[in-house]
Order: sequence, then structure tokens, then C-alpha cells
Amino acid sequence: MNIDGLAAIVTGGGSGLGQATARALAGAGAKVTVLDIDSAKAEATAREIGGVGAGCDVADEASTIAALARGRAAHGPARVCVNCAGVVTPGKVVGRKGPMPLETFARVVQVNLIGTFNVMRLAAADMAGLEPLEGLERGVIVNTASIAAWDGQIGQCAYASSKGGVAALSLPAARELAPLGIRVMALAPGYMETPMLAGMPDEVMEGLVASTLFPHRLGRPEEFAKMVLAIIDNPMLNGSAIRLDGAVRMPPQ
Ligand SMILES: NC(=O)c1ccc[n+]([C@@H]2O[C@H](COP(=O)([O-])OP(=O)(O)OC[C@H]3O[C@@H](n4cnc5c(N)ncnc54)[C@H](O)[C@@H]3O)[C@@H](O)[C@H]2O)c1
Repeated sequence: MNIDGLAAIVTGGGSGLGQATARALAGAGAKVTVLDIDSAKAEATAREIGGVGAGCDVADEASTIAALARGRAAHGPARVCVNCAGVVTPGKVVGRKGPMPLETFARVVQVNLIGTFNVMRLAAADMAGLEPLEGLERGVIVNTASIAAWDGQIGQCAYASSKGGVAALSLPAARELAPLGIRVMALAPGYMETPMLAGMPDEVMEGLVASTLFPHRLGRPEEFAKMVLAIIDNPMLNGSAIRLDGAVRMPPQ
């Protein structure tokens, strides 16, 4: 799909991978609506790229409906939806203070998996009402999983389950939405240089780089964004999850 002039939505666009994606989409001519729970960050990214910024908790139905309506009013229904909003809250099944609080597990799943589905379902409903473009395509949805979907470490039960859910979502959603010409893909990054990883102790960071085989460094947000553009551009990419990880395989801890 050629995105020049088309409307796009990016969640988590106030920071990291979402911000890089919003920039790349705008650079390719898309009209971008940037959603983030941190409305100041959403608006800052939007200002920089000439888009629309809106505060939104993707895990909250009313907040998401309202934010998407702002984007629709400015740009029309979006043909592209990229879900990057996410949280990582570590916690052991049984930690020093006893069993993991259920609300900790639930919030991670609520944001990462249910939030992704929430935005995806609303965006897909909008896409369904649009005229098909060249190749009968109506829209493309890219959801952000993680290599933790397959390599979940000790302390990542909540995160890995949420991301496993995002990866598993691609095929049934792509199958269902295929007659409408809407594709669904998941991107599963390895270790990426974003604020999510910033603040890790130096020795942890060195370990992350050491286990990333080639290139022997953290991934760059721009490399994630380039992959999003490639997915949008290539109509055969549908119904699966792609690892973007420099051949890293996370160890148990
Ligand atoms: N950085 C990595 O190494 C890495 C690796 C694998 C997967 N990921 C995934 O990539 C995505 C982006 O992560 P990042 O590294 O750019 O992190 P980040 O913290 O830089 O950005 C995440 C953004 O999501 C926003 N957000 C959080 N909860 C939200 C909510 N409920 N509603 C709306 N926005 C919300 C945050 O405010 C933030 O701006 C996440 O889903 C993350 O799990 C990151």
C-alpha cells in the first residue's frame, strides 16, 4: 500500500518505537494521529511531524473511542494502524513477598493485549467502510509483540503472556479480515534502544548487547519503523509475526 496522503494511527507514539514509526509514516506522506497515555508526549510528537496528538489509554474503551474520533475528524478514517503502546512490569509468580499481585498481571495484559485488540477492532471497523485501493487493499494493522512471546524469561510471565497473545492475534484476525482487504501483522522486536530499556544498570545493558549476535548492538527505533513501512508496502505479509532481533534468543534469566 502506498501511504502517501493516507491517514494513519500510531499508539504509544509519544516515545520509542511508536515515535520513530510516527516520524517514518509522516516522512512517507501519511497523515498521522499519535495516541499516547502521556498526552503531552503525544502532542509533542504530533507537533514535530505535523499530525494530530491525543491522550488516550488504549486499555480504556471510552478514552480510545474519543481519541480515534479526533484523528478521524482531522484526517478521515485511517488505512494504517500501528499499535506500539505497551508496558513492561516484571514480577515473579511467587516473589519475596508472596504470589504476584493479580492486578499487576492483569494491568500488563490489559494494556499490551486487550489495549492492542481494542485499538485494532475500532480501526478495522473504520477501514471496513472505506473503498478498496489498488490490489483490493483497504488497510493494514501492525501490532507490536516481543521476542518474549517465545523466549519469556523468569519474571516475565505477565509480559510474555501479553505479547504471546499479540503474536497469536495476527492469524485469526488476518483470516477474518481478509475478505475486507485488511492485513494484520505482528512485529516482535528483540532489545531496542528506547526509553523502555533506558535506566537498566550498565551490566544488564552489556548483557543485552552481548547476546544480540549480529548486529552486535541494540536495535534502533528507526529499524523498527523501517520494518513497519516494509510491512505496509508488501501485500504478501499477512497473518504472522516477524522477529526483529539480531538473532538474540533470551536465556531463562
Ligand atoms: N524496547 C524494547 O526493547 C522492546 C522490545 C520488544 C517489544 N517492545 C514493545 O514495543 C512497544 C513500544 O515500546 P518502547 O520500547 O517504544 O517503549 P516506550 O516506553 O518508549 O514507549 C511506550 C509508549 O507507550 C505509552 N503507553 C503506555 N501505556 C499506555 C496506555 N495504556 N495507553 C496508551 N499509551 C500507553 C507510553 O506512555 C510510552 O510513550 C511496547 O509494546 C513494548 O512492549 C519493546
